[in-house]
Amino acid sequence: MCGIVGMIGSRPVSPLLLDGLRRLEYRGYDSAGIATLTNGVIDIRRATGKLDQLAQRLVDQPLAGHVGIGHTRWATHGKPTEANAHPHATAKVAVVHNGIIENYRALRTELEAKGHAFASETDSETIAHLITDYLDQGLTPQQATAASLKRLEGAFALGIVFVGHNDLLIGARRGSPLAIGFGDGEAYLGSDALALAPLTNRIAYLEEGDWAELYAGKIIIHDAADKIVDRKIHITALSGAMIGKGQYRHFMLKEIFEQPAVIGDTLSALTTPDDALAMPPLPFDWKDVPRVTIVGCGTACYAGVVAKYWFEQLARLPVEVDIASEFRYREAPMQAGGVTIAVSQSGETADTLAALHYAKSQGQKILAVVNVPQSSIARLADVTVPTMAGPEIGVASTKAFTTQLTVLLCLALTAAQARGAIDAARAKAILHALREIPAQINAVLRDEHHIQELAHHLADARDVLYLGRGLLYPIAMEGSLKLKEISYIHAEGYPAGELKHGPIALIDENMPVVVLAPGGALYEKTASNIQEVAARGGKVIMISDKSGIAHVGAKTFWNIALPETDAAVAPLLYSVPVQLLAYYTAIAKGTDVDQPRNLAKSVTVE
Ligand code: G6P
Repeated sequence: MCGIVGMIGSRPVSPLLLDGLRRLEYRGYDSAGIATLTNGVIDIRRATGKLDQLAQRLVDQPLAGHVGIGHTRWATHGKPTEANAHPHATAKVAVVHNGIIENYRALRTELEAKGHAFASETDSETIAHLITDYLDQGLTPQQATAASLKRLEGAFALGIVFVGHNDLLIGARRGSPLAIGFGDGEAYLGSDALALAPLTNRIAYLEEGDWAELYAGKIIIHDAADKIVDRKIHITALSGAMIGKGQYRHFMLKEIFEQPAVIGDTLSALTTPDDALAMPPLPFDWKDVPRVTIVGCGTACYAGVVAKYWFEQLARLPVEVDIASEFRYREAPMQAGGVTIAVSQSGETADTLAALHYAKSQGQKILAVVNVPQSSIARLADVTVPTMAGPEIGVASTKAFTTQLTVLLCLALTAAQARGAIDAARAKAILHALREIPAQINAVLRDEHHIQELAHHLADARDVLYLGRGLLYPIAMEGSLKLKEISYIHAEGYPAGELKHGPIALIDENMPVVVLAPGGALYEKTASNIQEVAARGGKVIMISDKSGIAHVGAKTFWNIALPETDAAVAPLLYSVPVQLLAYYTAIAKGTDVDQPRNLAKSVTVE
């Protein structure tokens, strides 16, 4: 999704803005641009495609100036052309925008009638003309911004510079995140703290409706009513250095390999070494909770589906899980005393945030499972239980997912204990099995070559089916999502028991079927499904433990043997081979693994 940076100081800002944009690359984009103020005019360089194109343009035509804004654009309104790339400017202002201006058509018509000539198809350009219109009426930049913000409907984070005001940079936020950075004699704005990491570790997060005046030595923040307010300055722990890939070819692979460590970190924060829970206090008692609602998007939503099984089986607590974009408009009746859990890596996903606003309006307690503690979702929640995955850069979520599972299982166990639904020995056994997971994942990672070899066979497939039952059904969906996202092969995750009700018609000798079949109560059922696929010539890729593979009683095309584990924690372990399979299939196909086409890491618009 679009990324924003802005900077004001006494050194040339263009190279620093470009560096900030590189740190936002992971969000996904298809064009980029930078504007600075030089000698009383706005100077802009824009380019379609990757940032290297923009960098080359800056080499050919360097940009001077001590104040400027930069943008990576993920196209919403209008194709990813240079004309639609940001910054958008008039003779008086230049603007970068992340979000969607919902009333832009009405505003554009009004402004065109007044003689404003538009150069792009974007909703964002409207903002530049609207501010200009107020400046033309004699308002100061601050007044023109405040007046314009009141006219805009939708979601936005903005960076704005004004001709004739080389000492001023303005940022604003409604719906989309914006971080303000405090430097020595410099001030910055960015879509997230990561963008500003080498410049400062002192960050304030604008609240909903805030806007800020940034000067070289001073920052003034206003709330939605234009009143001057103080916002807390956080000291971020993000390293000043670019978060690197280390020895790995891609962030995704690095993040897959980080899983044992980050699951271990997350567990250390939530459990004791003798297999007991040590959860943060919650503002409700699980005993009194009649129902849990879980919302999220993409991978985060699948973590929620796994959690539904855990809460229902272990805590005997009914759970509804829904995709946030559906939930937000569904007008679901919600029971008094209910808890809504938001699952999100970024904590900024627009639909998840909107779903939470709805849940809050229905009197629900909000619990956030997020990876970014200062994110909008964390700030809206009554309580946050963070995943400790560290920054996740690869667009396809991996370590965020398995740390989400870790937190959600600990929450389900807490609820189970509070409700007296689990005996102490079973709770201890599950926690013990969970603590074994990092070592077991390491064993899977050591065997990655076996999966790499299989990936060569998958790379030519047109479609791939993933099957799983119970706790493994959501992992089948997650595995298929990973493959789709980065290899562009069509894949579907299905509950194995549904095979006969449709997907079996697709099976022939060209159809790889990945079956997730750990030992446990449902093994025999899934093994029968494997036989049904094999009997129709389907290529079964069986992921199970040694004993499951030995006893399947059908011819399989490929077997991936995982360590034996308690069925309750199998989703964590079985996530890893499907991640590796997607990764190596994408490598075999030569796709852009870390920034797959059309995808954004953090979806901050609807
Ligand atoms: C995007 C990302 C996915 C992610 C989803 C939800 O689609 O590409 O990887 O699962 O958003 O993001 P969140 O930050 O809320 O977990």
